Amino acid sequence: MAAALYDPADGYYARPAGQVGRGGDFFTSVSSGPLFGRLLARHIAGWHRQAGSPDRWRIVECGANDGSLAADILAALGASPGLEYAIVEPLPLLAAAQRERLPAARVLASPEALATDPLPSFVFGNEVVDALPFHVIESDGHRWRIHGVTLSPDGRFVWADLGEAAPELVAGIPTRPAGYRSEVRGGVPAFLAPLAAAMKGGRMLWLDYGFERDDYYHPSRTTGTLRTFSRHRAAEDPLESPGEIDITAHVDFTALSAALVQVGGTVLRFEPQGRFLTEVARPWLLELEGRTDEATRKDLRAFQTLTHPGHLGSKFHVIEAAF
Ligand SMILES: C[S@@+](CC[C@H](N)C(=O)[O-])C[C@H]1O[C@@H](n2cnc3c(N)ncnc32)[C@H](O)[C@@H]1O
Repeated sequence: MAAALYDPADGYYARPAGQVGRGGDFFTSVSSGPLFGRLLARHIAGWHRQAGSPDRWRIVECGANDGSLAADILAALGASPGLEYAIVEPLPLLAAAQRERLPAARVLASPEALATDPLPSFVFGNEVVDALPFHVIESDGHRWRIHGVTLSPDGRFVWADLGEAAPELVAGIPTRPAGYRSEVRGGVPAFLAPLAAAMKGGRMLWLDYGFERDDYYHPSRTTGTLRTFSRHRAAEDPLESPGEIDITAHVDFTALSAALVQVGGTVLRFEPQGRFLTEVARPWLLELEGRTDEATRKDLRAFQTLTHPGHLGSKFHVIEAAF
């Protein structure tokens, strides 16, 4: 999965930005327009004030794709002397697009360099955790085994039993009947640790689709949540055309919460995106009362898309931790 998505030459994300949006393979909240970034900016500004308005501070966005969300957040924040907007983007072509669109942003392939100058920070990512590599696991009725990928004698990728999963990888996952298949993402603490190391206090916030553990490994969810996306069509076979399609699985928010605590965080909230954004938007919604102009109507349509349970409001969740 890591190679299929992130190989610098042949990975799915190694192509020029264009995966997200109408002309791409899938929509994200960013595709609904600038309101998402404006609401996140309100939330970030609220934290900055609450933290005593430190002179030097940093926003760290992971996986910024074409830089749209960063541009929306920066525009909404306005002049902010002392703010460094850093983007962590492992893919060189995406990083180049971000540098071009946001000359003031600091774009890094990995967060380690930020730790030499830790600052009060707001670290976040939209639909990044679901894009981190995971293992497919299959129960034999007693233990979990890795359902992995190998090469067939004629050079095709094929599924194979790669042996028992390491106990620490599957710790806390309930026993399930033979043949039950799911996913586990073991690399989350290692992903979070260097980000946490660059923070001199602050917040970390992740928006994504997923479930808490009981729901994630629910007895009825016998084939997991692995999906591929291409031209807005979902499918389930990641071996079909690796490098050309997106591969994702839902986020186990119980595991993400434990990983946040493991790297020094205190979880402040875990809630549906709709509830989170409605709370953030309350003062803005009051300001809008009585306005009927087209720009307002457009914003309200975007707000519906982001918050209505039938759209993105309940499918997506938000987890936030204090550091
Ligand atoms: C589904 S896209 C989401 C893009 C964008 N945030 C949005 O909401 O439209 C996932 C992004 O995560 C990025 N990504 C994957 N692994 C990452 C890592 N270790 N650090 C930072 N970004 C990463 C990918 O390059 C890709 O841009």
